[in-house]
Amino acid sequence: MKKTIFSGIQPSGVVHIGNYFGAIKQWVEMQNEADFSVFCIVDLHAITVPQDPTELKENIYKMAALYLAAGIDPQKSALFVQSSRPEHTELSWLLNCNTTMGELNRMTQFKEKSESKKDSVSAGLFNYPVLMAADILLYGATHVPVGEDQKQHVELTRDVAERFNAKYGQCFTIPEPIIKNTSARIMGLDNPLKKMSKSAASSNNYIAISDSADEISSKIKKAVTDSGQGITKDKDKPAISNLINIYAEATGMSVEDIEKKYSGKGYGDFKKELADVLIAYLEPIQNEYNRILQDKTALTQILTDGSSKIAGIAQATVSSVKEAIGLGL
Ligand code: AMP
Ligand code: TRP
Repeated sequence: MKKTIFSGIQPSGVVHIGNYFGAIKQWVEMQNEADFSVFCIVDLHAITVPQDPTELKENIYKMAALYLAAGIDPQKSALFVQSSRPEHTELSWLLNCNTTMGELNRMTQFKEKSESKKDSVSAGLFNYPVLMAADILLYGATHVPVGEDQKQHVELTRDVAERFNAKYGQCFTIPEPIIKNTSARIMGLDNPLKKMSKSAASSNNYIAISDSADEISSKIKKAVTDSGQGITKDKDKPAISNLINIYAEATGMSVEDIEKKYSGKGYGDFKKELADVLIAYLEPIQNEYNRILQDKTALTQILTDGSSKIAGIAQATVSSVKEAIGLGL
């Protein structure tokens, strides 16, 4: 069977190494194995919570530049902005009428995000998983790489698609979620028991892709460590284990090789070298990112080309779904 990958990421301001190792790097690797990959900057999902218009526009460009700097190849894959293809909102409505309130009420992300403000969150936030289902089903995606937190949404997509196919005939491909391995779950530098997050109270929690060499050194130096000593990965040593994971991601070295290399050495030495490794890893990405971001015209062209490349597929899906439902003339 043809392997088609679809994934989306919200254009949010800070992108940290958790996002990078957990999502962005994985997309780049997957584009080489797939027959076709579609990567979407999901601005329509972003507006389910309040956004500043000027910042949102800038963040869309920044996210696109980062993906390109990371190695998304616009020849092999389609990189585009969700709101540039009207079929996403169109299919979303058609699916909304085939999704129950009960199903959406069970979504844990909505429960978490709407907690204590049930009446003031937008209806869009409630319907968010249906728009995500539309994203995936429009392109007949077979594989959807996502973080653990999005698994329930992909399962809802499968349920909605299966029910739709049973009722109206075969319209949709049933997608498979691809959940990255646990080593890509990067934890906070100031609290290794919680995942690294841009909404953490302190910026010492994360290393942003845009952090300078000095910032990276200082944040790694301040990162909490475990009691005891030794550079070994162990569930009783969550802080060092997390730093070892980051080292492994940035160098491609195995955990065993890292442990061997630092056997007999202290936390201080390891942290210093980790900072150096991370700075060296991020430097070419940062340079490329800054270069790409300077030429908004070229960037717009890549995103417009991406959108044109997939227009036919999206339009054909919407037409067949409308036809199946009995809409139009
Ligand atoms: P978010 O910015 O939370 O919407 O996440 C964007 C993508 O990065 C999703 O695929 C997340 O699963 C992934 N991600 C976010 N934080 C981390 C983390 N600390 N470790 C690994 N992956 C993460
Ligand atoms: N909801 C996803 C997130 O916040 C982003 C997303 C939107 C997505 N549409 C998608 C991911 C379709 C995979 C497939 O991370």
